[in-house]
This record gives sequence, structure tokens and C-alpha cells, in this order.
Amino acid sequence: MRDLVIVKLGGAAITFKDRPFSIRLHDLERIASELSSALKSGCIDNMVIVHGGGSYGHIVVETYRKMYRRKLELNTNMFVDTVLAMRELNNAVAEVLRYHGLPVIPMDTHSIVYIGIDGVKLYIDTIEKLLNYKLIPLLYGDVVITYSGFNVLSGDDIVAELAIRLKANRIVFVTSVDGIYTRSGNVIEILKYSEIDRVLTSHVSNTSSGVDVTGGMKRKLAAIKRAFQSENLETVYIVSGLVPKRLKSVLCNENAMCTRIVRG
Ligand SMILES: Nc1ncnc2c1ncn2[C@@H]1O[C@H](COP(=O)(O)OP(=O)(O)OP(=O)(O)O)[C@@H](O)[C@H]1O
Ligand SMILES: [Mg+2]
Repeated sequence: MRDLVIVKLGGAAITFKDRPFSIRLHDLERIASELSSALKSGCIDNMVIVHGGGSYGHIVVETYRKMYRRKLELNTNMFVDTVLAMRELNNAVAEVLRYHGLPVIPMDTHSIVYIGIDGVKLYIDTIEKLLNYKLIPLLYGDVVITYSGFNVLSGDDIVAELAIRLKANRIVFVTSVDGIYTRSGNVIEILKYSEIDRVLTSHVSNTSSGVDVTGGMKRKLAAIKRAFQSENLETVYIVSGLVPKRLKSVLCNENAMCTRIVRG
């Protein structure tokens, strides 16, 4: 049975979320080298990478949201401009990952996802095939077609969907904070699935470090809860991508500051 890890490169880690269209190139380079080194050391067998919208997708959607408030889901310009902005970010991310030796295949989320009345439909066969060749599918948070127009599908929600469909064993959310903080500012090191609701009500808000149209940490935890529907999922990590070595340590099961979410 293959070991599959899904890594979500949060927009908060790879872009400056408070500065439109700006990439944290230095951090992205280091994150790429840590991923590459974890792969070379045998800490990862198979990997899917999803990245978030950061100061690309979130900013475009927010601009349209302010202008049009209602009927956003039928705004074709919002769809086109968000897709183009996300492809620009995706291309930059793909090039850096490739430069560091990662065999990534960029995949446009809007081309393989449809949201029907009964939920997300995702064409999974190509992703499965890529994994068989040890390639790394690279998807991103995007605007996708729904039964009633177009809507944002966050990178976190795609991760949950992929985890269920691909029977992933681990998920690593790389972001800009050390993990989930309590109200008093301490990092929750281990969080049991059964405690997620309590933590959501008492400690987590839907704020973000910048413009965010997908509900920040709050919606991330909701996506994590959903991902645990898959029996194969063992651990979910929330780790900072802005502090060197943490990502590599988490991927290699070594000690590092982060939040680990486990069953139970
Ligand atoms: N209890 C909490 N612990 C940690 N972060 C929290 C908490 N409550 C709210 N947050 C916010 O959640 C943010 C992380 O979510 P955010 O959506 O901005 O990052 P991301 O998912 O990495 O980015 P993107 O959505 O662009 O991919 C933090 O910057 C922080 O402001
Ligand atoms: Mg987010």
C-alpha cells in the first residue's frame, strides 16, 4: 500500500497576503528545497501539492465582491480574471518547485472539478495515473463551475476532497502561523478530532493575515474535519512555512513546532 502525503502550500506562506500579486520568493525557494530534501531522504513516497490563493486569487475575488456584491456567482469576468491570476501564481510556484528537482505536473482545478447539487465532483483518474509514475500533481485553490454558476473552491477544500478520493495518509498544511493558537497565544501541539469543534468555538476566528475570501483558519479546520471521513488519514499537520526546517521535520516525522491533528 502506497504512503501518500498531500501538502497544501498556503497562500499565507508563499505570498504576502497583504500585498497584491506578490510572492514570498525567498520562502518559496526554501519550502521547495525542504520538500525536495524530504523526497530524496525517502520521507515521502507519493505526494500531491495544492497551493492557496494568497495575494492572487483572494484579491481578485475580493475586488469583484466589492464591486458587484450580488450575482457574483454569475460574473464571467470574475471567473476569467481569477483563473488567469491563479495560473500566473501556479506557474511561478511550478517553476520554483521544478528548479528544486520536484517533478510537478500543474493541473488546472477548474478543468477537473464541477460542483453539483450533491457536492464536489472531481475527475481523479489522471491524478491517480500521475502518482503511479511518481509525478507530483500540482493543483490550486480556484473558481470552479457549479450547478448555479461559478464559485470559489478553496485550496483547503480541494485538499479534503483529494484526501478522501486518493486515501491519503497524511496532510500537511503549510501556512504563516506556528499552528493553531489558543486565545492565550500558545500553540496547541496535539489536537484530537473529537476536540476540533470545541477549539473552533473557543479559539479560532475566520480572520487571516490579509485579504481572504475562504474563511482563514476556521474553514481550514472544517475542511480537516471532512478529510477525516477517510479512514486512511492518520495525521494532519499545520506548520509554519516561514521558519526554516519545520516543514522537512514534519514530513520526516521528526519533532518540530506545529499542530498535529489525530483521530480520537
Ligand atoms: N486560533 C488561530 N490560530 C492560528 N491562526 C489563526 C487562528 N485564528 C485565526 N487565525 C488566522 O488564520 C490565518 C491562516 O489562514 P489563511 O487562510 O490566511 O492562510 P492560508 O490558508 O495559508 O492561505 P490561503 O488561504 O491563501 O491558502 C492566520 O494568519 C491567522 O491570522
Ligand atoms: Mg486559507
